[in-house]
Parts: sequence; C-alpha cells; structure tokens
Amino acid sequence: MIVIISHPQDPHAGRVGDLLRGDGQPVLLLDLSDFPHRASLSVGYQDSHVERLDYAVEGAGVFDLTRARSVWWRRPQTPNLAAVTDSDVYAFTHNEWQEAINGLWQLIDAPWMNPPARDEVAGRKALQLKIASGLGLRIPRTLITSDTQAARAFIDQQGLGRTVFKTFSCTHAIWRETRLVGAEDLEKLEHVRLAPVIFQEYIEAAADLRVTVVGRKIFAAAIDARATDYPVDFRMSLGQARTEAAELPPAVSERLLALMDRLGLVYGAIDLRRTPEGEYVFLEINTAGEFLFIEERTSQPIARAVADWLADPSARA
Ligand SMILES: Nc1ncnc2c1ncn2[C@@H]1O[C@H](COP(=O)(O)OP(=O)(O)O)[C@@H](O)[C@H]1O
Ligand SMILES: [Mg+2]
Repeated sequence: MIVIISHPQDPHAGRVGDLLRGDGQPVLLLDLSDFPHRASLSVGYQDSHVERLDYAVEGAGVFDLTRARSVWWRRPQTPNLAAVTDSDVYAFTHNEWQEAINGLWQLIDAPWMNPPARDEVAGRKALQLKIASGLGLRIPRTLITSDTQAARAFIDQQGLGRTVFKTFSCTHAIWRETRLVGAEDLEKLEHVRLAPVIFQEYIEAAADLRVTVVGRKIFAAAIDARATDYPVDFRMSLGQARTEAAELPPAVSERLLALMDRLGLVYGAIDLRRTPEGEYVFLEINTAGEFLFIEERTSQPIARAVADWLADPSARA
C-alpha cells in the first residue's frame, strides 16, 4: 500500500494516485482532516513492538499503516475541530492530535517523500540560503530583518530599483508577489517592525528556472518572463511567459543534488534565476512544491517519476 497524505481536492495527489492505481498499486489517500469525525487512529504496543497502527475510515475500512510501502508527504491537513467552540478545549484537543499524529509518523518504517521532520527544517528559507551558498551556489545578497534602519541601509547599499522584497510564505487570504522596492515603499519602511521582511539584491533574469528533483531525477524548466507585464516574478505572468524544458550545467545539477542530500529531501521544487551572463542564482527550494504546471507546459514526466519512486524501491537508488 502506498500512502499519500493530502486531500481529495489536491490535483497532484489525484494525478499520481491515478498513475499508481493504473499500475495496479493499492493507494491510500490519507486526509488528516477526516479526523476526528470520519476517521480514527489506534496505535497499539505488545511485547516491545508496535502491534498495530490502524487508520480506520468510516465506510472505507481499516488500514494497517505498518504495511505502508512508501509515504508521500504531500499536503498534510489538520484534524477538523471546527465543532469545538471553547478556545481552551480547542487548543488542548488540537495539541493532543498533533502529538499523536507526529508520533505516528515516526512509527511508519517506510521511505518517505519527504520525511516530515526533514521537511519542516528544510522548508526554512534562512537555512536553505546558508546551505546553498555553502555548497557553492550563488545566492542574492540578502537581509531578513524587522529593523527599519537595517532595511534602509541595505536598500541604500543596493540602490533603489535594484532591491526586491518578499515574504517567507503566504496565507490563503494574503498572497504577495516579489516586488521591487520603490520610492513609495521607503515611506512605509517602518512597517517592517510588524513582521520581518526578506530584502534581496534584484537578480535580473534571462529566465526563471524551476528545477523539480525527484529522487536522483532532475527536471529543469526555463520560464522566460522578460517579455511579459511582470518580469520581476514569473508567477504573475505565467500565462504569457514561454516555458520550456531546459538543461542545467552539470556543476549546477551536482550542487542541487548535494543540497537535497544536505537537507535530507528526496523531492524538491527549486527556484533559480539564470542571469543574462549565464550565471545561476539560487532563490529557494519548495519541499512540496507544485509540478503539474511545469508538466503541462513541458511534457516532462514528473508525475510518472513521483509514482515510480513511490512504487519501486530500486528506482530510488
Ligand atoms: N532576488 C530576486 N531577484 C529577482 N527576482 C526574484 C528574487 N527573488 C525572487 N524573485 C522572483 O520572485 C519569484 C518568487 O520568489 P521566491 O524566492 O521563489 O519565493 P516564493 O516563491 O516563496 O514567494 C521568483 O521565482 C523570482 O521570479
Ligand atoms: Mg518560489
């Protein structure tokens, strides 16, 4: 049984699940938001070993997670505790679920794409930049700060029009693209005290590169947003940008695989920029980043590679 931890609306889980089922592989879509109403969990110990690791879903049966062949940590949800209205009770039950679930993962003795504990640490941009530059990948000059003076000094040093600012992550309600710092932003600079901001040297791009790594397989795609309305962040103009499969210089590929190893990841979607001079600049790695938008545009068989990795231990070597 191959376990996919996600939810029914995730098209990536759907696509890979379909491929696996097509190959005759049993697949379990484990949706953590089915707890506590539709699903339950039981971990039992007997004579110093884990005797059962049962995930029971109403109407679907009981799944023995000790039999997992591999696990895909794709889009983990949280238990649905919306019915708990008391905030103290909510905090308590939420924590109890988190403890039980996080403990459960350690007991599943199967290869993970990616191990949750690794994913958690590797997802931090601050660490990614440090390790990437230590491995010889160029990174933009960067300042992460909540100090207005430090931010001003950094922008002065880079020059206006040569500094971008961006977020660590976004929420459903608030999404922010990468932006060039403009004169009007300088007037509002004291707002960084409210929450730290990532300031970076602006890297001019001949192309944005999205490099999807699956095990030892590398799928590089070049997204050329230069002729679009918004060349600062390709996600703003993906419809207009030209996207095609790309080749990486071997030295860059090797460093990206070394980065994966150092972070303990088997899957990663890496954002780089290729400068007009042909230099590759590392921006970030998304530990569970999307790949279907690349697959649709380049026909690179990324879902197939994910399915193969999950299905076949030998493909992982
Ligand atoms: N320092 C930079 N210089 C130029 N463009 C950047 C820079 N940082 C990010 N971008 C653009 O913004 C996009 C999103 O930034 P990224 O670092 O990948 O963060 P996230 O995707 O988490 O918002 C990048 O793919 C790139 O197009
Ligand atoms: Mg990105």
